[in-house]
Amino acid sequence: MSKHYDLYQYKGCNFISNIHIKEHLEKLDQLEIRDNDVIAVTYPKSGTIWMQQILSLIYSDGDLAAVQGKRTAERVPWIEVPVIDFVKQPSPRLSVSHLPYHLIPKDVKKENRKIIYVARNPKDVAVSLYHFQNYVIMLDATSSFEDFLEKFIEGKVLYSSWFDHIHDWYTHRDEFDILFVTYEEMQKDLRASIQKICDFLGKELDDEKLDIVTEQCTFKVMKINPMANYENIENKNPNGAFLRKGIVGDWKNHFTVAQSEMFDRIYQERMKDIPFKFIWDSK
Ligand code: A3P
Repeated sequence: MSKHYDLYQYKGCNFISNIHIKEHLEKLDQLEIRDNDVIAVTYPKSGTIWMQQILSLIYSDGDLAAVQGKRTAERVPWIEVPVIDFVKQPSPRLSVSHLPYHLIPKDVKKENRKIIYVARNPKDVAVSLYHFQNYVIMLDATSSFEDFLEKFIEGKVLYSSWFDHIHDWYTHRDEFDILFVTYEEMQKDLRASIQKICDFLGKELDDEKLDIVTEQCTFKVMKINPMANYENIENKNPNGAFLRKGIVGDWKNHFTVAQSEMFDRIYQERMKDIPFKFIWDSK
């Protein structure tokens, strides 16, 4: 399949042509965000599809029938991608976004609009994005991890810099009703994380439903669920997968010691005002 996508910049952030339409991005600032709308915000490869699955199951009250016939992106669409009309979804509308803080619609700051920001340790994000670029048609493959890592650190990738994304969302957190969760804490205790998300959203699931939702959101179950694994995404590598490994610490299989030390130095410098605690290792 031929590639017909390119990265382009809009207001300092890298988007993909054919998926992110400039005219749509221009209107985002004025997008109406309704009472009770929920937006999960992530930097790419931080657990977006995971949160789409979690949110839709919480809001279907653990009813699997409500989520079985539709893919995650239809149940919880992107606000910056006009393919599935987020505007026409019934309230409360569930959505996702990779938008940086400065491009999020103004209305999100109004009362009763909730944001869940999912963050993942950036070494695993880099590894996941590297494999994603080499898997999907819409992004250019990068030959070596070394080359890719340089681009990742410089923000020359989809949605630009990981450091800027988390920094800006975190430092402006007081402007929103926002919950920060990490990929790693979801990995460590998925049930407790879903409970925490329910508490934030004011939703109640009894023990049995919480068990059902937890089970449906495990990597093992999502990996074989065509409604939650993007198995039809246009790809250039039939051996790849969107739900690739789903683990904490895969960066150790990709970073050299020197790359890791270099990354740590940059991390210390760029994150010095952000007291975020990541788990870097599954042990
Ligand atoms: P890996 O490439 O490390 O496997 P996003 O949806 O933001 O693009 O993130 C995709 C990453 O989240 C992939 O990471 C994918 O495997 C992982 N992921 C998705 N669902 C998951 C789940 N239920 N449990 C653990 N990881 C999950």
